[in-house]
Amino acid sequence: MPPRFSFKQFILPFFSLINISHETLSPRLDNGLAITPPMGWNSYNHYSCAPNETIIHSNAQALVNLGLQTLGYHYVTVDCGWTLPNRAENGTLTWNPARFPSGYFALGDFIHSLGLGFGVYQDAGIQTCMTGEPTQVGSLFHEDIDAETFASWGADLLKYDDCYSEAAAGYPNVDYTPVVSPSGRYANMTAALLATKRPFLFQICNWGVDFPALWAPALGNSWRATNDIIPAYRTISRILNQVVPQTDFAGPGHWVDLDMLEVGNDIFTIPEEQTHFSLWAILKSPLVIGAALKDTYTSIPTASLAILKNQDVIGYNQDSLGVSASFRRRWTEEGYEIWAGPLSESRVVVALINLQDEARSLTVDFPDVGVQKAGSVKDIWNGVTSSNVLTSYTANVAAHGTLLLELGELVTAGIYNASDAVKTGQTTTFEKVFGLTTSQNYSAVLTFANNKDSTSIVVNGKGYTLEGSSLTVPLGLNATNSNTVNVTSSISPNSLSITPQNATFYPSTSFTTSGSSDLTTCYTGLCQPVGSKIGYLSATGSASLSIPAPYKFSSASTVSKYVDIYFCNNDIAFATSWDYGTNTRNMTITVNSVTTRVELPLSGRSSELFSPGLGWEDTGLFGVLLDGWTDGNNEVVVGNVYGNEGLVNYAADFVGLGIYW
Ligand SMILES: *[C@@H]1O[C@H](CO)[C@@H](O)[C@H](O)[C@H]1NC(C)=O
Ligand SMILES: *[C@@H]1O[C@H](CO)[C@@H](O)[C@H](O)[C@H]1NC(C)=O
Ligand SMILES: *[C@@H]1O[C@H](CO)[C@@H](O)[C@H](O)[C@H]1NC(C)=O
Repeated sequence: MPPRFSFKQFILPFFSLINISHETLSPRLDNGLAITPPMGWNSYNHYSCAPNETIIHSNAQALVNLGLQTLGYHYVTVDCGWTLPNRAENGTLTWNPARFPSGYFALGDFIHSLGLGFGVYQDAGIQTCMTGEPTQVGSLFHEDIDAETFASWGADLLKYDDCYSEAAAGYPNVDYTPVVSPSGRYANMTAALLATKRPFLFQICNWGVDFPALWAPALGNSWRATNDIIPAYRTISRILNQVVPQTDFAGPGHWVDLDMLEVGNDIFTIPEEQTHFSLWAILKSPLVIGAALKDTYTSIPTASLAILKNQDVIGYNQDSLGVSASFRRRWTEEGYEIWAGPLSESRVVVALINLQDEARSLTVDFPDVGVQKAGSVKDIWNGVTSSNVLTSYTANVAAHGTLLLELGELVTAGIYNASDAVKTGQTTTFEKVFGLTTSQNYSAVLTFANNKDSTSIVVNGKGYTLEGSSLTVPLGLNATNSNTVNVTSSISPNSLSITPQNATFYPSTSFTTSGSSDLTTCYTGLCQPVGSKIGYLSATGSASLSIPAPYKFSSASTVSKYVDIYFCNNDIAFATSWDYGTNTRNMTITVNSVTTRVELPLSGRSSELFSPGLGWEDTGLFGVLLDGWTDGNNEVVVGNVYGNEGLVNYAADFVGLGIYW
């Protein structure tokens, strides 16, 4: 049985109609580099566009002295600010001799002498991103000569930025809506780097404009998926919400770059730095230290250094399987969420982020990440290991911190072995049985060894006759991790296996719109699986449907049902990144009189500029437990009752609901 939740949030077949246009771009970078995500150090986050020789020497030396190099941190990249404003008469770029008195040949030699890789920075526009006077010339239309120059200096990596690049707009500093795709300019540099015959790790840095996940893997070893990381904790959620729909584009040789690390820059608390490092690591982002490790004035705080040196976490990043973790589940009102991904040796890594401002105890239900039992659990930041953990793991999580777990020796979700159950006389009690949704409609299979006769079996008080070695029974479970199933018989069961529920789908087309909301038809093949969606959901416009319960509930009170929300959101925070942009849209779902708010990440998996649906017609799935369901008719209203409190008046667009009855 496949893990219950693997790839649940984004079901690949929904997106299989999207044509990946790699083939139309001429060069294909196949340089054998970055088989695991690149690791290193870069000057920008701490020194901005003011690096110099002293700074680079002392930080490169510190990578070695602090033991970071032996853990894999390899590349030392000098970011913006290294150049002279203009090209030399013969057309080449030149280092700024005031900042680099010994020159770039010598700098490369020094870095190489430490056994490290030498990274250089340039820009795919007419000048680099360095602001203020004098402006610094970029590489646009000089790709060949610049790649040759970098190669002659012994450079091993190029980080390639995208300022001053949009010709149609007169080359402004940044243009988030260029009329020409950036991919052509990046392709020209890829070709130029290949022509040097020197292997260059190529880091594409165009901040996610034109959904580079579709074209950058062919051209570079990593691509920046989002606008810059900023010195504020909310930047972490903003970046994560943008990468939700593209984690599966990462793989050996081509990684999603969440931007350089702020660990050690005295911006985040230690738990926040742990969250930052954990998520960057398990999403297989390049791990590029952006702190002053050591210079005349600064050395990295010990606690931050310990985070950067955590060998388990580095191991998750560098894991040989090379599969990024993905978003699994968010409890919006409760303020926490779970990401998880597979590791080699059949392990799973799980990160639960505490988004609230207080420390508290939080629980990972293993079935949310496809697991029922972990023979071993490593709780990284609490420094605890446990064995034979059934169904869930609870621990303290600091404010804004992360519970990072490595689960090993796994039993797949839904399978309960009798060896983990409690036996009393003829009764076997399976404890910690997980219910995703509250339902009478589960089906379970009990297996027994060598039964040749008709045997009477009692399951949770109901009698059955077993013929053969397996028995299928209906089962009622609540949406908790602590149901029990009692099996009484003269022979003992071997295992209990619970079949996952199927959802019943209610398309947006069957809902009634009111106020500002509006049903629109999507381009062929988009807004899967409906082909249309309801937009302009707001405090004054909703979509409603009366949904009869398909069977009589045994419980008299209201119950909780798990629901998949099919939604579209491509409200990307570009210009708003530094202020308030979150890459989320709210949505509220009211069941009878119970309203639940969800904060939905981006779902766009195509170009926000040039694709037919502009990424606003790519469906994402978001699972949530909704309270308030009753027997008979359920009045379901989809909207955004809190309006502007969610920053954006409009909700994400609504494609449909899958209800796990
Ligand atoms: C171009 O001129 C610069 C500055 O004079 C010099 O350092 C460089 O070696 C020259 N490059 C070539 C390819 O001749
Ligand atoms: C490099 O910058 C540091 C910090 O601003 C300064 O102390 C040092 O003198 C500079 N070195 C060079 C070679 O410019
Ligand atoms: C790529 O390089 C070619 C050849 O130099 C040039 O004609 C073309 O304009 C360049 N493309 C872009 C998008 O810069």
